[in-house]
Amino acid sequence: MQTIRLIATTQFGLEAIVKRELIALGYEGISVTPGRIEFDATTADIPRVNLWLRCADRVRLKIGAFKAVTFEELFEQTKDLPWEDWITVDGQFTVTGKCVKSELMSVRSSQSIVKKAVVERLKSAYNVDWFDETGEAYTIEVALLQDVATLTIDTSGSGLHKRGYREASGGAPLRETLAAGLVKLSYWFPDRYLLDPLCGSGTILIEAAMIAANIAPGLNRSFASEGWETIGGDAWRLARESARDAEKPFEEPMIYGSDYDEDVIRIAKRNAEMAGVGDYIQFETKPLNEVWVDRQYGIVITNPPYGQRMSDFEALNKLYINFHKMFRKKKGWSIYVITSDRQFPNYFKRARPDRVRKLYNGPIETNYYQYYGERPPREPKKT
Ligand SMILES: C[S@@+](CC[C@H](N)C(=O)[O-])C[C@H]1O[C@@H](n2cnc3c(N)ncnc32)[C@H](O)[C@@H]1O
Repeated sequence: MQTIRLIATTQFGLEAIVKRELIALGYEGISVTPGRIEFDATTADIPRVNLWLRCADRVRLKIGAFKAVTFEELFEQTKDLPWEDWITVDGQFTVTGKCVKSELMSVRSSQSIVKKAVVERLKSAYNVDWFDETGEAYTIEVALLQDVATLTIDTSGSGLHKRGYREASGGAPLRETLAAGLVKLSYWFPDRYLLDPLCGSGTILIEAAMIAANIAPGLNRSFASEGWETIGGDAWRLARESARDAEKPFEEPMIYGSDYDEDVIRIAKRNAEMAGVGDYIQFETKPLNEVWVDRQYGIVITNPPYGQRMSDFEALNKLYINFHKMFRKKKGWSIYVITSDRQFPNYFKRARPDRVRKLYNGPIETNYYQYYGERPPREPKKT
């Protein structure tokens, strides 16, 4: 089978996690640059990675990369690439672009040069003068970075954060890909107690439960490359079947979510049902100061409101103080908090954060404060 290069794009800060996901799926030849993880694959892997990657934004098929400092170089080298291997004679395609730190800084001109070059290539490959463009849709991207043009076709369509379970969203939901990343960056394992006391529409907990039940995040949605001839419908069908077979029941789940807003709790329950994990999470309407934590060990992963107005700040300070009180003496709890508010660690004084990671929630820069708790004692071995 033909070897291809795929590129998983990701929000800045999640590259290491996506790399880890790819290694776990068995991929090799991985190279990482900010926001992009490139790896070796075959055409049959296009369905597989789209269905399984939890933290990547989308998967692009790399057609080629070359240095180009003039439009002529861009045109000629784009025309040299084997576009006909992927785009059918009736295919319709658009070109998107971005230019960063390059001689060629006009995105519009680069897009139209690439469009013309691909048309020329297809004309001679198919020996036609005119394209109807009534068939499959392809979105080509020309990305110029430091004078290197990388040409790709998007295989995903809408971003991979669109899992198909979020019918409705409460207030300011986290992106599903980021929520999955937060879970993967914590030391949570499905046999441990997990709590989000500001759970909103439940994204973090839903992603955790999907990980525990080995539910492929892309099973309930469609992808741009499902109708591509080169991949073939069988590859998609087989990848979906094997993803369904891989699902396993989540035994003895201990996942809890609460929020003081009953409307968002209703949404969280609905989203969890849609994601197939409704039975694995217990949601409750409750203000933070009434959440009673009676366990010595557990993990909190949470996303407090960001707070934009002065009145919000007062409420936020109160919230932080209550949060601190809840966990002040709970040394066995690991606490993970994502927020754009840099004041947070001044209020949560149990300890200094063990690690702070910069992550992006869409365009918003946030910090992920990580406080590691003491490990639970090991169960004595049964003899
Ligand atoms: C940024 S949102 C969480 C979004 C969530 N991660 C999601 O993906 O939908 C913060 C949540 O905190 C809740 N909240 C704010 N103050 C609270 C309090 N004192 N007690 C309980 N919930 C509170 C809000 O209702 C809101 O749903």
